[in-house]
Amino acid sequence: MKVLLIGSGGREHALAWKLAASPVLTRLYAAPGNPGIAAEAECVALDAADHAAVVAFCRDKAIDLVVVGPEAPLVAGLADALAGAKIRVFGPSAAAARLEGSKSFTKELCDRQGIPTAAYGRFDNALAAHEYIRQHGAPIVIKADGLAAGKGVTVAMTVDEALAAVDECLDGGFGAAGASVVVEEFLEGEEASFFCLCDGKTALPFGTAQDHKRVGEGDTGPNTGGMGAYSPAPVMTEALIEQTMKEIIEPTMRGMAEMGAPFTGVLYAGLMLTKDGPKLIEYNVRFGDPECQVLMPRLKEDLLLLMNAAADGQLAHMSARWRDEAALTVVLAAKGYPANPEKGTIIRGVEQAADGEDVFVFHAGTALRDGALMASGGRVLNVTALGGTVTDAQRRAYAAVDKIDWPEGFCRRDIGWRAVQREG
Ligand code: AMP
Ligand code: GLY
Repeated sequence: MKVLLIGSGGREHALAWKLAASPVLTRLYAAPGNPGIAAEAECVALDAADHAAVVAFCRDKAIDLVVVGPEAPLVAGLADALAGAKIRVFGPSAAAARLEGSKSFTKELCDRQGIPTAAYGRFDNALAAHEYIRQHGAPIVIKADGLAAGKGVTVAMTVDEALAAVDECLDGGFGAAGASVVVEEFLEGEEASFFCLCDGKTALPFGTAQDHKRVGEGDTGPNTGGMGAYSPAPVMTEALIEQTMKEIIEPTMRGMAEMGAPFTGVLYAGLMLTKDGPKLIEYNVRFGDPECQVLMPRLKEDLLLLMNAAADGQLAHMSARWRDEAALTVVLAAKGYPANPEKGTIIRGVEQAADGEDVFVFHAGTALRDGALMASGGRVLNVTALGGTVTDAQRRAYAAVDKIDWPEGFCRRDIGWRAVQREG
């Protein structure tokens, strides 16, 4: 099979690596890819926002399946454009991608289907939002309704902070994404990420992970796209997975199908494990980044066969088995990330770092200049290792990190601390 993978981050490098291992793959293209992905795929300069160009490329190369990594092209309708041209695609339609693209869409679905989630109000008028906040008090959570690249959420510890967050949002702080706000109840508990592969009808549980969103050690400082992750999430027991499937995922699949927007692709549920059971914080309609980088090394199955089955509505016949080891990934970021990452600095030692058994260095924001590897983004490398325990995987990942020579980069030294503490 000939496959086109859309994306250029560490998530897509992990996907490319896993797809490349499939015996049924004959050719892998990545658009635009990155220097790490280039070891697995032919990178092509295609703009995913130009749907006509993507369709033309797929026809020209006789692509059998398009795999879309990031959310933005899905929310923008790339899967619809491909489906309209009879090109098979793994990823949801724009209508189904509203699960990530619109917080109020998801909240309304939860209301209709009785899915446990935080109580909320939706407002496009500041006065009404302020009144709701004063009524409910702090802590309280303010979210821009639309896609805001992970920056639209404020967990406000005081009423004043909450009022200010509403004003920032409605005053255009997040552009069109903030034209309305969702104000919701603060949920207490431990967070976990839960993934399913979906084919419109069936959802196949596809692993668990926990990530670290804050830039600083001890989970402090500004939010980021994620500074590291590990899989499986020890808190997600079999019983909790079953409960999540029954109370959250399956009603979502039914609700989406009923409204004529069946969900195909990766459904990523961000969960809060509260004392009253798992509650949905948010949905994403693609793999997590860096969560994908810890799922792929543990997956025993042929990813391409699974994605194919999802695209064809045949997941009911498939299963997913995982290696027993834990995987842990450490994000190396450019100094200044997330506010202002330094670009163009030289990175050495990546090959030495990646030469161990079950150690992987996935590229996230790199470029080649005159044969030298350079940082070209905020999150730059994902150093991933498997181990018998999270503690073991953590030790092996940091040993690999220490082989990388990049003075202008940094990482958190405590990725996995919660799981390590549990194991200790
Ligand atoms: P998001 O960008 O939606 O992933 O939210 C970022 C982070 O905000 C989440 O990972 C949670 O840690 C936190 N968060 C979001 N909603 C809530 C909530 N209702 N209660 C507590 N924390 C939340
Ligand atoms: N790591 C969080 C995300 O991909 O949304």
